[in-house]
Amino acid sequence: MTENNPPWIRICKLEDIPRLGARRVDQPQGPQIALFRTQDDQVYAVLDACPHKGGPLSQGIVFGHAVACPLHNWTIELEDGCARAPDKGCVKKFQVKKEGEHLYLNALEINVIET
Ligand code: FES
Repeated sequence: MTENNPPWIRICKLEDIPRLGARRVDQPQGPQIALFRTQDDQVYAVLDACPHKGGPLSQGIVFGHAVACPLHNWTIELEDGCARAPDKGCVKKFQVKKEGEHLYLNALEINVIET
């Protein structure tokens, strides 16, 4: 098992997330993850906790390749998980694989498989 070939776990179909929408991946153990779909069908996964005060980013407004946190309106860039200046801080990002209609997360990153 290498980083180039991690154990991918299927989460949902692309169409299960509306354009400019999000889906929260709830896990009994492991991080809560927000999956975002942009208008141009890019998909990003970040921890569902704003770097400011932990707001639920999955409930934010997606625009471009960014999300506005619902609590205090910080803008988080989905490409790198970092707050847009002048705000500071980054949220953890997760790998997403889109294969056909299906979306996968790296099981090692989301602690589904113990290493
Ligand atoms: S918790 Fe997200 S902007 Fe404050």
